[in-house]
Amino acid sequence: MDKFLIRGGKPLKGTVKISGAKNSALPCLAATLLTAETVTLHNVPYVKDLITQRRLLEDLGATVLTPELHTHKVRAANIEIYEAPYDLVKTMRASVLALGPLLARFGQAKVSLPGGCAIGTRPIDLHLKAFEQLGATVSLEAGNVIARAPNGRLVGADTFFEKVSVTGTENVMMAASLARGKTTIHNAAREPEIEDLAELLNKMGANIKGAGTETITIEGIEDLGEADHTIIPDRIETGTFIVAAAITNGELEIKNCHPKHLAAVIEKLRETGVEIEVADETLTVKCGGKKLRSKNVTTEPHPLFPTDMQAQYMALMTQAEGTSTIVETIFENRFMHASELVRMGADIQISGNTATINGKTKLMGAPILASDLRASASLVLAGLAAEGETLIDRVYHIDRGYETIVRKLCGIGADIERITENLTMSAEEIK
Ligand code: EPZ
Repeated sequence: MDKFLIRGGKPLKGTVKISGAKNSALPCLAATLLTAETVTLHNVPYVKDLITQRRLLEDLGATVLTPELHTHKVRAANIEIYEAPYDLVKTMRASVLALGPLLARFGQAKVSLPGGCAIGTRPIDLHLKAFEQLGATVSLEAGNVIARAPNGRLVGADTFFEKVSVTGTENVMMAASLARGKTTIHNAAREPEIEDLAELLNKMGANIKGAGTETITIEGIEDLGEADHTIIPDRIETGTFIVAAAITNGELEIKNCHPKHLAAVIEKLRETGVEIEVADETLTVKCGGKKLRSKNVTTEPHPLFPTDMQAQYMALMTQAEGTSTIVETIFENRFMHASELVRMGADIQISGNTATINGKTKLMGAPILASDLRASASLVLAGLAAEGETLIDRVYHIDRGYETIVRKLCGIGADIERITENLTMSAEEIK
């Protein structure tokens, strides 16, 4: 497994460009299953999860062309199977986003139940309940979800999410686009990625209103058609680089971003003393050697502070003066980065869903282990701030959601290299 070797203590300086949003490209690629026409997506990030999603589309029978690394031209004209197999779903739970489109277009879908993952059990019960409200029959057989639409077509209805669910909202919005009649999604997720997906679906001919609010209405139609769409910038990658500048006491210009999509993150980081200047598609981050102030935060659904920035924020709070608390309300097990930060010298106590960080503590480089995507980012940030060498193992986690992270960090002055383990045995070792 690949590792990252980081020699910390260098302030990051320069310009970094943000890639397309992983969590928008995933549902947008799934939406291409809703039509036999060609859908072209630009600014698709070159990350592992999108390679997996592309493989799923091809396994289902779609044709995916990439005339340019970040452009996917998808034509799902010859879908032969309606099943997302376990070996794909287990590596990437976002494969469940194939469920809504397959069910809506073909009246049937079989998707392996995604297991839990490091950060929680991650059930999809709310997705399935909403599909039943749209008239589908849903059964569980040998670890698979089997969904069918009686008479081959879903029927629009009022659907209500007991908990805000990002991919749940996306799955139902896609399914309802081809249903007979009107669907209203109550307590919908409000993330920018929901709005981006709705914009793509409307370009394909759908009739969706209210995306980005808690109530979304979808007037179902018979067929969806071709579209050409550019994926929004990744707001979590943007927030991660702001923290990278702050934690190394550097100065960064962050381009190709959408500051409005991470307003709560910017506000919280400004409270801690990070100087952030905002323009339309650019952020400038300065720290000027000022001491960081410890500030409490609670993760909430958008537009409040996102759970996907919690681990990165915790790394920063180890460098702030005073005690701060982080309350994680979205996932039940999303503090695994804390123990690794403690090994580097941080002073963090966990009690239930609350982490208490006593700063400022000196971070020393150490061999550490990545456990999930955003925890990995947190450990990279800590390594950049630490004195000495940090060796992070299992960095395949970070490759899922950060495009060419080593190249981007080296481009702004970080001393980081990827160590690819030579899995072939040498002649000596074979003896
Ligand atoms: C999306 O996951 C994101 N993934 C996650 O980003 C993000 O952390 C999460 O939303 C919250 O913002 C993608 O968009 C691909 P949820 P999702 O359904 O949709 C519970 C990253 O790092 N729930 O909004 O799976 C669930 O257990 C990833 O990029 C149910 O109980 O999250 C959680 O506690 C990690 N039943 C809460 O709701 C359901 O049917 C929110 O989950 C669905 C969800």
